[in-house]
Amino acid sequence: MVIMPKVSVAVLASGRGSNFQAIQDAIARGECDAQIKVLISNKSDAGAIDLAKGYGIATEIVERKSFKTREMMDERIKALLDSYKVDLVVLAGYMVVLKSKKLIDAYRGKIINIHPSLLPSFPGVDAQRQAFDYGAKVSGVTIHLVDESLDAGPILYQEAVYIGDCTSDGDVSERILELEHQSYAKVVHSFSKGRYVVEGRRARFVPY
Ligand code: GRF
Repeated sequence: MVIMPKVSVAVLASGRGSNFQAIQDAIARGECDAQIKVLISNKSDAGAIDLAKGYGIATEIVERKSFKTREMMDERIKALLDSYKVDLVVLAGYMVVLKSKKLIDAYRGKIINIHPSLLPSFPGVDAQRQAFDYGAKVSGVTIHLVDESLDAGPILYQEAVYIGDCTSDGDVSERILELEHQSYAKVVHSFSKGRYVVEGRRARFVPY
């Protein structure tokens, strides 16, 4: 009987970590075949750090101010990913753009990010408020591979949600966050069951 080793995951987060929590809870429910080895944050006071400690998951702080350049900061992150023998890097509200080509090349096709809009609509920050202010009736969540571009890597998963009845951008954020929490663990689980093959801009899931 072939025992597939669980996909080892590193989560990078800068904030409260609700997406991290949603993935870990899905793992605990047996719905996501992965193991989060480490939570890395650029903020020593990030709520995600406390969550990780509560789960008994290793935490690492990589603060920008400790490094002369962004590349050196990313190099430290790469060294940590290598040391934890990570198969998949999950950006979950990680508010720093990865700059190091060495890091992106070494983990190409294995770094994913979640964005709270249907890319290519509303890239960048405050995507939920952008959609609300624009008067969009539908928005949603995008999970994509991370490459050198900002929010423009090949898309792995998208799901839409009606926001026409939202009365504030906070409503939109809440509605999309629910979707994020359901979606991210699905994509992490897919990684454990196969891989995504990228042809140009298109990413196709290929089961093992
Ligand atoms: C989420 O809305 C995500 O889409 C965006 O940042 C937020 C992270 O929230 N990238 P959390 O830290 O996972 O709660």
